[in-house]
Amino acid sequence: MFITAELLRKKRDGGELSPEEVSWFVAQSVRGNITEAQIAAFLMAVCIRGLSLRETVALTQAMRDSGIRFSWHHLGKPIADKHSTGGVGDKISLLLVPLVSACNILVPMISGRALGHTGGTIDKWESIHGLRTSFSLSELEQLLRQVGAFIIGQSEEIVPADRLFYRLRDVTATVESIGLITASILSKKLVEDLDALVMDIKVGSGAFLPTLDAAQELAHTMRSVAAELGLPLRVLFSRMESPLGFAVGNWWEIWEAEQALRDYATAPSDVRELTEALAVEMLLLSGGADSPQQALQLIRSVWQSGTAWERFHALVRAQGGRWEESSEAYKSLHPFYLSAWEDGYLATVDARTVGMAALLLGAGRKTQHDTVDPAAGILLYKKPGDFVRRGEALAALFSSTPASFPPAAEMLRKAYQFSPEPPTLPSSPILGFL
Ligand code: URA
Repeated sequence: MFITAELLRKKRDGGELSPEEVSWFVAQSVRGNITEAQIAAFLMAVCIRGLSLRETVALTQAMRDSGIRFSWHHLGKPIADKHSTGGVGDKISLLLVPLVSACNILVPMISGRALGHTGGTIDKWESIHGLRTSFSLSELEQLLRQVGAFIIGQSEEIVPADRLFYRLRDVTATVESIGLITASILSKKLVEDLDALVMDIKVGSGAFLPTLDAAQELAHTMRSVAAELGLPLRVLFSRMESPLGFAVGNWWEIWEAEQALRDYATAPSDVRELTEALAVEMLLLSGGADSPQQALQLIRSVWQSGTAWERFHALVRAQGGRWEESSEAYKSLHPFYLSAWEDGYLATVDARTVGMAALLLGAGRKTQHDTVDPAAGILLYKKPGDFVRRGEALAALFSSTPASFPPAAEMLRKAYQFSPEPPTLPSSPILGFL
């Protein structure tokens, strides 16, 4: 038994909490014995003071153990998952889950909602009418047997501590912490009974940790905590200076992912390259392929043959989603266009600013009681390097609240920088591996 205010004081003043103190704090928070104000104070103290490795391991374990843990190995297949540290237009999970499950690997994904200026897979996934992201244990097993995958959120039973902390971090500017990001992600993934986890650590303005140094520190922390808790982990670093693909925001990202799975040749090149690289790592680390060449061949064959696209729709149906109805409903929305105010090459389309504009349209939450607008989002017509003429449409903005168009368009304008010369752009979204 500890005194909450004393633990908060200790952390506030830069002390190290013992594993017992951390585990007590998490358990009492989930039981409702610690107020949300105290939890928010804890998160802010951690954000400012940081966590030692011992504290990060203890927090990850306590969050993992706040709910049930799955065991799927009796299903007789390798089990793998991927998680990203969060980005803008990052719909990669929505392609990867059907692709990798079509390669005969189980993918039991527990994901999160929008966080800060970044989107969340669960908010995106729920923009499909009727789609459920919460199931009983026996229903989850049925989903794995039937379609080899599921995408669900945290719940009262599944990592409830992450559910609680995540919701508060989203609205208290306490996302940007290596210890909190590590514990949030690994607690979810440790519940899944994985043979392999591949992390996509984002670097750039649209990431929570904009510099490569900070991203590397996060990667090393995640590697150390995962090793301590017995989770095989591979890290890929990817660029997040501009949004991935062309769509940003809930339904629009689902739609872009579905289109990309339907037609390999027209999938946005950054989305395709990153998806393939992560899928290769998932197959290699889980034992689903013996070499990178074999893994890539398998992935391309299920993608180009339409098998992964069919798997995507099978998963949507199995989780209760009504695809046709959703497509029809979102098609009837009227966009607001942002046009170019000068001629030139696009030197920058800043990911963070685009994410903030999407948030203003309703794609994320400004307070923890806000509901996300599934229709809110942005379709970019031009990407960095493109030449645009004054008056040409740069982007279409969507929202169920038309009053949000002017402030969101004003924000989005700030994302663009023009140049008279073609800019030098990176040739790949991938920065490296660890
Ligand atoms: N994704 C998560 O699940 N948690 C974080 O803290 C950041 C990204």
